[in-house]
Amino acid sequence: MKIKYSYLSEEFKNNNKIFKDWKKLISSTEFTLGKYVEKFEREFAKFIKAKFCISVNNGTDALILCLKSLGVEKGDEIITVTNTFYATAGAIVACGAKPVFVDCDDRFQIDIEDLKKKISKKTKVIIPVHWGGASPDIQQIVQLAKKNKLFVVEDACMGIGGKINGKAPGTFGIVNAFSMHPLKSLNVMGDGGMIATNDKRLYAWIKKFRNHGMVSRDKIEFWGQNMRMQPLQSIVASHGLKKLKKTIEIRNRNAKFFDKELSKLGANVIIPKRVKGFVETFSLYMCLVKKRDGLIKFLNRKNIETKIHYPVPLHLQKASKDLGYKKGDLPVAEKQAKHLITLPVHQFLKRNELYYIVAKIKSFYKKSNKYA
Ligand SMILES: Cc1ncc(COP(=O)(O)O)c(C=O)c1O
Repeated sequence: MKIKYSYLSEEFKNNNKIFKDWKKLISSTEFTLGKYVEKFEREFAKFIKAKFCISVNNGTDALILCLKSLGVEKGDEIITVTNTFYATAGAIVACGAKPVFVDCDDRFQIDIEDLKKKISKKTKVIIPVHWGGASPDIQQIVQLAKKNKLFVVEDACMGIGGKINGKAPGTFGIVNAFSMHPLKSLNVMGDGGMIATNDKRLYAWIKKFRNHGMVSRDKIEFWGQNMRMQPLQSIVASHGLKKLKKTIEIRNRNAKFFDKELSKLGANVIIPKRVKGFVETFSLYMCLVKKRDGLIKFLNRKNIETKIHYPVPLHLQKASKDLGYKKGDLPVAEKQAKHLITLPVHQFLKRNELYYIVAKIKSFYKKSNKYA
């Protein structure tokens, strides 16, 4: 048995419906923006219940554009969590601002108490991340931001299809970012991103900036960039959106099975708490394990592919060297980074494969505890 982490070869095995629409697109030659892109934007807005959605190249562009639309510039401090993907911080730096990192909690989400301590006179935006497809207490963060007159931009790149008390991730902040990178809950055959907002003024500005600042073929209002989503990808995304609910359901079922079985391993495996009323997308199924590196090697020998998201938190990356952090500054994230493991949880796993993963993890601890 071989259990691959990536499920893309399964997901894109039969592409007939996509190819059919691609053929129509090719004959229409609408290769920049156009009706397929607009259709997907409408579908996405309906799905998350947002007033306005603007598609872009990728999630990183989406974050950059969200921040730019709020006037983020040099001298501003933007608070985010240290255990996120590089792009969250990269987008801040791309706008000339300074990332200020916050520790995480035992659910791998931004620690709100630490967040409160990091707010300064220079803070302009808080970027909570829906890390792994789970969500922080976003309502509390929005309240905190309101009290301090700050903007919230959600990094919902991993959160498409999730729910927080019935509301979609990426609908709480003033303007919010999503990714359709191949290993996200809604994915395309390459890169894709989306921005959601209920603010008409921000929507109008973002829509123009994404397309060079153009108001018409012959007129630009301001200097923008080309951050347009490819119509070929918008077709892939439209088809993916139809299956997303089912995808999330299966991933949740798989995660529930792991939670139940792995929690029998006592202190060897720590599962994050699942919050009532929150639906996770399980873009990542993460837990903390003892003897992590040994377990990964063992699972690898048993043909089970796993990942670590991530072994080095952002504040300790070389890219952060000028930001003044040192080891021990964000202790929870640093400790977790040594014990994190991400297991395959995708929608194509078969029942016997789920049992196999659990059985091998159990056998590792049975053996290793015997020799410990
Ligand atoms: C939390 C987070 N933020 C931002 C991004 C950037 O998205 P993209 O790869 O589409 O640029 C990703 C994914 O890659 C992500 O997981």
